[in-house]
This record gives sequence, structure tokens and C-alpha cells, in this order.
Amino acid sequence: MFAVYAARTDAKRPLDGLELGERPEPAAREGWTTVEVRAASLNHHDLWSLRGVGLGEKSLPMILGCDAAGVDENGDEVVVHAVVGQTGHGVGPDEPRSILTERYQGTFAERVSVPVWNLLPKPPELSFEEAACLPTAWLTAYRMLFTNAGVRPGDAVLVQGAGGGVATAAIVLAKAAGLRVYATSRDAGKRARAAALGAHGVFEPGARLPERVDAVLETVGAATWSHSVKSLRPGGTVVISGATSGPNPPAAELNRIFFLELKVVGSTMGTKDELADLLGFCAATGVRPVVDSVLPMSRAREAFSRLAEGDVFGKLVLTPSS
Ligand SMILES: NC(=O)c1ccc[n+]([C@@H]2O[C@H](COP(=O)([O-])OP(=O)(O)OC[C@H]3O[C@@H](n4cnc5c(N)ncnc54)[C@H](OP(=O)(O)O)[C@@H]3O)[C@@H](O)[C@H]2O)c1
Repeated sequence: MFAVYAARTDAKRPLDGLELGERPEPAAREGWTTVEVRAASLNHHDLWSLRGVGLGEKSLPMILGCDAAGVDENGDEVVVHAVVGQTGHGVGPDEPRSILTERYQGTFAERVSVPVWNLLPKPPELSFEEAACLPTAWLTAYRMLFTNAGVRPGDAVLVQGAGGGVATAAIVLAKAAGLRVYATSRDAGKRARAAALGAHGVFEPGARLPERVDAVLETVGAATWSHSVKSLRPGGTVVISGATSGPNPPAAELNRIFFLELKVVGSTMGTKDELADLLGFCAATGVRPVVDSVLPMSRAREAFSRLAEGDVFGKLVLTPSS
């Protein structure tokens, strides 16, 4: 079957290891099932994989892609929960958690195999392309906001790096949940688009906000960390799920963290129940993922280049080429 895969990894030139071509069909495995992929979406995780982060030489070649929506063996429309090993379903109780493409082949292919437990019904209100955006970036934003940030309607949040997949999700979800949303981006065009999505205020990275916020949703890392900590009200929470610009900020801001009793909370992906709630939230509210573009898998290289260059607003979606 046609697939988009990592043949090699390279920390400096990640796109050099990206290949498009034939890969073997998924093998049958007890407790697992095969999904015909109708749409899959890119995440920064796919670039980390091509850089060799979380993907060792022994696992190559590896079909990329964490997210998919498609049709299962019964003909039902489904969304794939990308986390395997969270509960033991399909892999036994001792296997540690992994995300598709770390241990098991990913979704940028005509078919993907996952534990049966990992399938959720696709709400009919969502297209395959929209549903394929939800399992990683949107689920991560959902858990950051509604499980880990400790915010409620009427509170204020700051979203760093407004153009990203997680960040656009956070802006839309926070707005829909009745929060005041501030967002930063390096790019004026992306700031305007974040405002159009519903952000109450958009700013250059590091700018002073109109108020101190209850929570910051941080995925940029080193480049925005100081600003995140300085933007919080006393007792506020910074939730961090990524460090695109690097994991070692020039200043850790420890004095401010203890003096103002700030909370730093890590967040990774989300549970299957949270994904079900997110799907229900989108179906009920009319909230839809922000899709930058939909491209056939044969044009995956173009999509990866744009992600690597940060030339994206929202999610890049791939559909099977044939
Ligand atoms: N823990 C988890 O479960 C989990 C899940 C999903 C994602 N993540 C991580 O979260 C991060 C974001 O993922 P994503 O898929 O949303 O990525 P993405 O779509 O590629 O977005 C990355 C965003 O980061 C901002 N950015 C990048 N470099 C920057 C810099 N030097 N200074 C300021 N901003 C910078 C950009 O925003 P502007 O151009 O608007 O400034 C860009 O839009 C990644 O590191 C990813 O690995 C973690």
C-alpha cells in the first residue's frame, strides 16, 4: 500500500529521511483491527520523529502520522485514538504508553492497524478531514484546558505560538468555553487570524497583556517560557505540553514561581474518554478544527516542508492519493 514514512532520521535535516512509496499491508493481530484511512493530519510529532526524537534506528522504516479518521472492518466511520498501551488493550498490561509511530506504524497510509479498543465512532456532523485533526493536537489542547489548567468560564488564558495545531485548538476551545483568550504569535498575519478565530487580544511574543491570566497554555518552550511565567496572576497555572523552540529556557523564573505560588503542570495527549468528550463537544457546539489545507498523501513532502518552516495556521490534512 502507498505510505508516507521515515526511512532514516536526521536531527538537523529531518526532511531528508522522508520517503513516499510502497509499504507492507498491516499484519493481522489478535485484538487489533484495520482501518481504511480517509484522512490523516500532520503534527509536529511527525517532524520530531524524522529528527530521531522518540524514534530509534531499530524501528525504521516507520509510517508517520498519529491521527486518522476512516472506516473500520464493519463499515463504520471511526476516529482513531492514537495512544496505545494506556490501558493494556491489545498489547497487555505491561507495555508502556506510546503514540502511533513510536512503536506501531502510523496513519499516513491507505490502511492502519490499531487495537479495536482505540476506535471511537466519528460523529456524523464532522467530516473525515475535520475528525482527523482531533486525536493529537486537539485532544492535547482539550486536556490542557479542561483537565490540567483548572480554569472555568470567565477566567483568562494565554495561548503561546498562535499558529500551531495545538495553539489554534486551544484558542477555539477556550473561546467556546467562555474564557477570555489572549494569544501571541511571531507573525502579524497569524495574529490577525487568531483574532478572527475569537482571541480577545493578540500580541507579539513577550508583550505585556491587559491583565494577568489564570492559566497559560505553553507549547513553544524556551522562546516564550519567561513571558508565560510573568503573565500569570499569583497562584496561576502554566500548563506545558511541548517545547518546539527548545527545552532549556534562558531563565527558569524559579523566584517568581515560588514567590507567587505558581503551578507548573505537564500535560501529554489525553485519554480515550477525553477524546470522546472532545468529539461530543465539537458535534454539540458547532466548533470545528482549524484546517490550514487538505493535500493528497502524494504531496506529503510539501506539507512537511510547510510544518518545518512554521508556515501553517491550524492543521495540515492528508488524504489517500488514490
Ligand atoms: N505532549 C503532547 O502530548 C503533545 C501533543 C501535541 C503536541 N505536542 C508538542 O507541542 C508543540 C506544538 O505542536 P503542534 O503540532 O501544535 O506544532 P505546530 O503546529 O508546528 O506549531 C508550532 C508553533 O510554535 C510556534 N513556534 C515555533 N518556534 C517558535 C519560536 N522559536 N518562537 C516562538 N514560537 C515558535 C509557532 O507559532 P507562531 O508562528 O504563531 O509564533 C508555531 O505555529 C510541539 O513541540 C509538539 O511536539 C505535544
